[in-house]
Amino acid sequence: AEALRVGIAGLGTVGASVARVLRDKAAELTRQCGRDIIVSAISARDRKRERGIDLSSANWFDDPVKMAQTAEIDVFVELIGGDEGSARASVKAALEAGRHVVTANKALLAKHGVALAEIAEKKGVLLNYEAAVAGGIPVIKTMREAMAGNSVTRVFGILNGTCNYILTRMEAEGVSFDVVLKDAQRLGYAEADPTFDIEGHDTAHKLSILTSLAFGTKIAANDIYMEGISNITQADIRAAGDLGYRIKLLGVAQRTESGIEQRVHPTMVPTASVIAQVHGVTNAVAIETDILGELLLSGPGAGGNATASAVIGDIADIAKSRPGFQHGPVFGRPAKELRPYKKAQ
Ligand code: HSE
Repeated sequence: AEALRVGIAGLGTVGASVARVLRDKAAELTRQCGRDIIVSAISARDRKRERGIDLSSANWFDDPVKMAQTAEIDVFVELIGGDEGSARASVKAALEAGRHVVTANKALLAKHGVALAEIAEKKGVLLNYEAAVAGGIPVIKTMREAMAGNSVTRVFGILNGTCNYILTRMEAEGVSFDVVLKDAQRLGYAEADPTFDIEGHDTAHKLSILTSLAFGTKIAANDIYMEGISNITQADIRAAGDLGYRIKLLGVAQRTESGIEQRVHPTMVPTASVIAQVHGVTNAVAIETDILGELLLSGPGAGGNATASAVIGDIADIAKSRPGFQHGPVFGRPAKELRPYKKAQ
C-alpha cells in the first residue's frame, strides 16, 4: 500500500515527541499498519530551534492553514493548541480539503467539536482525538469501540495530570502549591496558561468530550459546574487525611432523574479507594455501564511521550482504515437530556 503522508502542525512538547516516535518506530509502525507512515509536512513557529530531530526532508510551512490546504498530506495532525486562532482555522481548512485530522486539542473540541465533526462527516474523513482526553490512556477507543452496546450510567475520573501532580506532592512532601506548579510547568505537563489546569477548565473540556461519548449528547462544556484546586491548602489536605480521605480533582458526569449532570471540583475520596492510589501525573477514568459493570483505566495523563502515544495510535487507525470509514456521529446530536448547571442565587 502507498505510504500515509502526515503533516504535523505545532512542534512543542507533544509535536516534537510525535515526530521523534514516528521516526524511531517507523519499522514497527509499518509492520503494524501494513504501510509506511511518513512525515511529509511540518508547520512550526520556529524553524531553527534545536529539537534533536532531523526534519529536513519534510516541507516546511509557516502558516498551518496553508499547510492544511495545500500540502501533499493525507492526515493533518493539529498540536498547536488553543480553541481559536490557527488551531481552529487549520483544522477546519484540513477537513474542508478532505484530509483526516488528528488532534490533541481538548479546548478546541469542547468549544467547536460539534461543528468540526459535522464537516468531517460531510467530507467522509476521520476526526480522531484520543490524545485530547486523559493523555495516553486509550479511553476514547475503549468507549467508542470496545464498549459498544453498553449504556453508561456514570463516568468520572482524574483528568488533569498537572492538578494531580500538584495535589500528590503537596500531600507527600508538604510543599506549597506555587513551588509544585512551577515543576509541573518545567516538566511539560501544564497548559500554556496553567490557569486552565488549576481552575478546572482543562478537566471540564475533557469531561465534556467524555460526556458526549458516554451519553450520546452534544458537547456542552458551558453547562459544567467548575471549581479548581487553587484554594486548596496544606491545612485542607491534612484535615482530609485525618478523616481518612485524600483530595482529588475529579470530573464527574452521571445520569440523574433530572438529566445528565456534569461537574468538576476537588473531592474527598476515601484513602483506601482505588482512585486515591492514582498519584502524580497519572490520570484515571472510571466508567460504569449496564453490561460491563465498572471499568477503571489509569495511565500517564500528560507529557510529550504519553500524549504522542495516543496521537500515533490515532494516525495508525487512519493508516488501517478503509476510505470513507466513519465512527458514526462523532459527537452526539440531541442535547435534550443534559442538565445545565445553574449557579445558586
Ligand atoms: N495540562 C494537561 C494536564 C495536559 O496536565 O493534564 C494533558 O491534557
